[in-house]
Amino acid sequence: MSLCLPTLRRQFPALHQEVNGHPLVYLDNAATTQKPLAVLEAMSAFYRSDNANVHRASHVLSTRATAAFEAARETVARFINAWDSREVIWTRGTTEAINLVAQSWGQSLQAGDEILVSTLEHHANIVPWQLAAERKGAKVVPIPLDAHGDIDLDAYRALLGPRTRLVAVGHVSNALGTVNPVATITSLAKAAGALVLVDGAQAVAHLPVDVQRLGCDFYAFSGHKMYAPTGIGVLWGRRELLEKMPPWQGGGEMIERVSFAGTTFNRLPFKFEAGTPHIAGAVSLAAAINFLQEQDRPALLTHEQTLTTYLADQLRATPGVRLVGAPQQRLGAVSFLLDEIHPQDAGTLLDMQGVAVRVGHHCAMPLMESFNIGGTIRASLACYSTHTDIDTLIGAIQKLKEFF
Ligand SMILES: Cc1ncc(COP(=O)(O)O)c(C=O)c1O
Repeated sequence: MSLCLPTLRRQFPALHQEVNGHPLVYLDNAATTQKPLAVLEAMSAFYRSDNANVHRASHVLSTRATAAFEAARETVARFINAWDSREVIWTRGTTEAINLVAQSWGQSLQAGDEILVSTLEHHANIVPWQLAAERKGAKVVPIPLDAHGDIDLDAYRALLGPRTRLVAVGHVSNALGTVNPVATITSLAKAAGALVLVDGAQAVAHLPVDVQRLGCDFYAFSGHKMYAPTGIGVLWGRRELLEKMPPWQGGGEMIERVSFAGTTFNRLPFKFEAGTPHIAGAVSLAAAINFLQEQDRPALLTHEQTLTTYLADQLRATPGVRLVGAPQQRLGAVSFLLDEIHPQDAGTLLDMQGVAVRVGHHCAMPLMESFNIGGTIRASLACYSTHTDIDTLIGAIQKLKEFF
């Protein structure tokens, strides 16, 4: 198999439109990706023919919906190489997955315990830990970066100690595109007796993810950043840990038996899934995974790596452009600044030329602070991105100078 970009792009209807009189160049994929026909059709087919609530099935539609929903869980388990599909918990996305761990596992924190969080993190992998730490008198300790925007591994080693209970780290940074050495980070944490949660929001669409090989304890990701709909995501956790963790939300499905004398809780994974889940979302996420698996994934990864390098090189070669960060390994996203043009203005003016990028702090304020800046312009790629997209971005940046 190899990669045929025009064929691939034809599967994403949203790419083929004009914006402000220009063909759309969609470079905001780190925020959310466009959806292929296979996903749109899976969503539509579910609602057209199988729509019913899941579990406790007493009729055909409910049986079908339950089968599709649980088959989707199996698909996710295989996709990330989980030991067992009971380790796959449906959530609304990465944010909810991390909050689940912070609130449930976080009950076990004690005063003086430390959670190490890298300075690269999205707020979703910072604030839940701050809330959990505050409740228990524990501490969130930032892991500093080096001047390039890579995690400073020496500083990390020095921070690990007997008080470290958990290390929270992104697989790939949403702001700089930094690919973190997660396996190394994990093995150092393990040697110190700490657990590791990996925020995989920016990794799953690009990199093969094998939770067993990564050696982490929790892995969180969002469907919408990997060609699936919004509102569905996954927490993967080691079964022995999940078994010990208390439920975090109460309601339907998560119980075994309810009485006013006391309630007992369902088995995994249902213990963590209170209320009616996003059934169509789960089914569509499985369709997105199948879509990805049908591609030549090594060729896709090479394409995305080549494009990321091309994007960074072209930006670097453009007068008046300054890249933010120079990580050793970068994938998918590049952040930059323009001389004398505020990122907010740049975002609007690029949009006027049909180029969609994201501007601001990218929910990574501590990272911005470490670079002494308020925000950046970020271009981010997906499997369907092309060299022409990048050339159009560069041309549009050059035109901005005419406005200023
Ligand atoms: C690295 C990272 N973590 C977490 C999130 C939060 O994802 P969601 O809003 O889908 O929960 C994002 C979203 O941009 C992200 O890029």
